[in-house]
Amino acid sequence: MAGKPVRTAILPVAGLGTRFLPATKAVPKEMITLVDKPLIQYVVEEAAGAGIERIILVTHASKSAIENHFDKNYELETELARRGKDALLEVARNTCPPGVHIAAVRQAEAKGLGHAVACAAPFVQDEPFAVLLPDVLLREETPGDDLRVMMERFEATGASQIMVEPVLQDQVDKYGVVDIGGRPLGPGEAAPISRLVEKPPVDAAPSNLAVVGRYVLDGAVMALLEQTPPGAGGEIQLTDALDALLRQATVEAWHMRARSFDCGDKLGYLKATVEWGRHHPQLGEAFGQWLEQQH
Ligand code: G1P
Repeated sequence: MAGKPVRTAILPVAGLGTRFLPATKAVPKEMITLVDKPLIQYVVEEAAGAGIERIILVTHASKSAIENHFDKNYELETELARRGKDALLEVARNTCPPGVHIAAVRQAEAKGLGHAVACAAPFVQDEPFAVLLPDVLLREETPGDDLRVMMERFEATGASQIMVEPVLQDQVDKYGVVDIGGRPLGPGEAAPISRLVEKPPVDAAPSNLAVVGRYVLDGAVMALLEQTPPGAGGEIQLTDALDALLRQATVEAWHMRARSFDCGDKLGYLKATVEWGRHHPQLGEAFGQWLEQQH
C-alpha cells in the first residue's frame, strides 16, 4: 500500500543542551557552529536535500536565535548591499534553502521527545512527516540522501522508516534500540521491526541497532502519542509511541549509509569539527595539510 508524499519535517529544538554547558548557557545548542554554519542549518539543508518543503521547529522561549537565523535580517542585508559585498549577501540570504518554509511552535514544558513531536500535531494532522533530531549530523556525499531514500520507501510501501546504525553493545542504553529478529542488516538495507525499546539495560537490549535520530512516520503516530504514558526518564518517549505503531502497521529499520556525528556531545562535536573542516570547500585543503603536520 503506497504512502502519501512526505513534505513536512518536525525538528525538536526545545532542549536546553545541558550536555554542552557552558557553551549553551546563552546560546542554543543548535546555534553552535561547525566551521562557519550553525548545526541547525546543516540539518535544515539535509531535510531540504531530501525533498522536505515545510519545517516545523518545536522550540522554547529561550531559543529565538534559531528562528532569527532563518529569517530576513534587513539591517545586515542592507549594509552588505551598500558595501557591494554580494557574495556575503547571498550567504546571509540563503540560510533557509529555497523552496523551504519554516514555522515554529513552542514546547512549553520539557516532557520529552514524544511530547515535543506531539506539539506539532495540529499542523500536520493526518499527514506523514519526518523527524530530524538536530543533535545528530550525518556526513553524506549529498546532504539528505539517506532521508530521501527513507521517504521514497515510505511513499512506495506505506511503511514508516526509522534510521538505525550499530553501536557498541555497552552503549545501547543511551539509545532507542530495535528488534529485527536477529537478522543481519547492512548499510542501505531495511527490515521490519518487531519491537522498539528506549534506553534498554545493556544486558537486555534486543540488538545493538540504535535509533540515530531520523524518522519518516505515518501520521497515525500523533494519535498514539496522545495515549503514550511517560516512559524512560519519566518522559513521553517517541520510541514508545512507535512501538505501539508497529503493532498496527509496518515500521522498518533503515540501516543508514552515512556516518553519524553526535554534536550534542563534546567529543562527538570535536570529531565533527575535524570532519567538516577537512571537507570544507574553501578551508578543507589548508586545514587538512595543517592536520597532517600535527602528528
Ligand atoms: C533520542 C531518542 C532515542 C535515539 C536518540 C538518538 O534520545 O529518544 O531513541 O536513539 O535520540 O540520538 P536522546 O538522545 O534525546 O536521549
